[in-house]
Amino acid sequence: MDNNVRPESMTRITTLAQASAFIEEQVALVRQQVGDKKVLLALSGGVDSSVVAALLIKAIGKQLVCVHVNHGLMRKGESEQVIEVFGKALDANLVYVDATDRFLNLLAGVSDPERKRKIIGAEFIKVFDEEAAKLDGISFLAQGTIYPDILESIKAKESGKPVKSHHNVGGLPEDMAMELVEPVKLLYKDEVRIVGEALGLPHGMVYRQPFPGPGLGVRCLGAITRDRLHALREADAILREEFDNSGLAGKVWQYFIAVPDLKSVGVKDGLRYEGWPAIIRAVNTTDAMTATIEEIPYSLLHHITNRITHEVEGINRVLLDLTPKPIGTIEWE
Ligand code: XMP
Repeated sequence: MDNNVRPESMTRITTLAQASAFIEEQVALVRQQVGDKKVLLALSGGVDSSVVAALLIKAIGKQLVCVHVNHGLMRKGESEQVIEVFGKALDANLVYVDATDRFLNLLAGVSDPERKRKIIGAEFIKVFDEEAAKLDGISFLAQGTIYPDILESIKAKESGKPVKSHHNVGGLPEDMAMELVEPVKLLYKDEVRIVGEALGLPHGMVYRQPFPGPGLGVRCLGAITRDRLHALREADAILREEFDNSGLAGKVWQYFIAVPDLKSVGVKDGLRYEGWPAIIRAVNTTDAMTATIEEIPYSLLHHITNRITHEVEGINRVLLDLTPKPIGTIEWE
């Protein structure tokens, strides 16, 4: 039997009790597969890799080594949360690598979206490989592969024409001579989230909206500069906070800010004030292949605009993107 095919008899996990049973089953399987050997995991802090990390910590404790590469393109507070949850609360064997300068130096002056994506993907693999080489006696590589990833890679192989070169922070080269541990590879996303809840991961981590592998790199449009990236991160944090407070967070599939490499003239305290616009994008979708625009109440938009323009240095306008997919893609790059 192909172990990359979900058996028809496999029941969909919808309850915490089912998730707990799944966890017990996987804990036993992982212990059997791994024995007393060490396992390496690229922990991005996204739902899938976080759930795999928590599951493996339960199964094999310190035999799991988690490597978190901060590429400097994370959203506000994300790397800190990885350190808090895995390094502290779960007492994991966590290697934290701040590679911000490496990534931003390589990206300096690069404005072509595909080149940016390629640089980020390739550098990620390089940094991760370097860290892996420093570790002794690693026999297995764990990955947060989920069932849609398997289905999508089959589809992509068949059609051979992706719109963008997608990069997953867990997507590592095939020539890494390590056996894979992929405990959630037959689960759909909603099931992974329930398993994450059953493992006791924080709600914000388990229900985190999707975030592209190249991170804020594809939302800081054109050539990335540190000041514009900083403004984007702060504006995005305000948007997320306001969506959380207003209850929109659970209803909108993906929402974020993009900041183009473009300045307009504004006025602040009676003086000319040039700044970038912050573009709000909030979409709903079921499969990310098409997307519709989510309505945001005007009162909330005014409030967000007011906060961003007053609190974020360098932003002097707030715009709303009303474009469905197609014609726009969800991300701007
Ligand atoms: P697009 O922009 O292609 O995005 O309409 C569809 C969904 O995919 C996410 N996205 C990515 N996810 N690696 C990922 O893991 C990537 O390189 C990547 N690029 C886009 C995007 O955020 C949206 O949810």
